[in-house]
Amino acid sequence: MTGPTGHSTKTSGGERVFLRLGPPPEEPNQFVVEGAPQSYSPEVQARLELDAKEIIGRYPNKRSALLPLLHLVQAQDSYLTPAGLEFCGRRLGLTGAEVSAVASFYTMYRRGPTGDYLVGVCTNTLCAVMGGDAIFDSLKEHLGIGNDETTEDGSVTLQHIECNAACDFAPVVMVNWEFFDNQTPESARDLVDSLRAGKPATPTRGAALCVFRETSRILAGMPDERPDQGLGGAGPATLAGLQVAKEHGMEAPQATPTTPGEGD
Ligand code: FES
Repeated sequence: MTGPTGHSTKTSGGERVFLRLGPPPEEPNQFVVEGAPQSYSPEVQARLELDAKEIIGRYPNKRSALLPLLHLVQAQDSYLTPAGLEFCGRRLGLTGAEVSAVASFYTMYRRGPTGDYLVGVCTNTLCAVMGGDAIFDSLKEHLGIGNDETTEDGSVTLQHIECNAACDFAPVVMVNWEFFDNQTPESARDLVDSLRAGKPATPTRGAALCVFRETSRILAGMPDERPDQGLGGAGPATLAGLQVAKEHGMEAPQATPTTPGEGD
């Protein structure tokens, strides 16, 4: 039996179990934030229309432009607002349900106001055992905020994040999706202090940091003028396995050709 907030089922032993449905307990809200803009001024609307036209023009089917358009309106508001969702739906001929179904699936789309720097501490398995949990706890205490909260000066939003495919540099902290590798509680505290002082540290790899709204605009596909100041390419930790394989003369096995239908 399914109700508005849960699902009741029975185990093989006949015991009734209630499964709670809905968003994960830590998820702040469902695109409902007090004071969020419901519509845009004519000036903002005109500017967004211009950018949206350029983005939509890159796709043979305009609804394919939904992901970059969500980043575009996030660049405007720092999170997804009713005004932003409405804008995307109208420009792409999608219903509100279709837009929010996509937007709520991806964690890079924010549901509440975001500071200049979104500091994400990876607490997935490998980073956690290498110190990610300790870093996250240390930053919560240092900044005086909890998960998905923003400092009073609006400079830093803290959140724990899932694996960012940088496990070989664990524990990893992301700032506006740029990598800070091999962090410790001390280095992470220095990092957020640099952000709050307006002198952001240089990421370990990739381009220099910019503020969150600019990052969102770049993710929308608008020009990225930043020079690449990071190391670039694969680092020693990433290549360690390959090095060992070479030293031991190991090679990948030959692929076995398969015939259609085999293994079906
Ligand atoms: S577990 Fe942290 S980057 Fe993979």
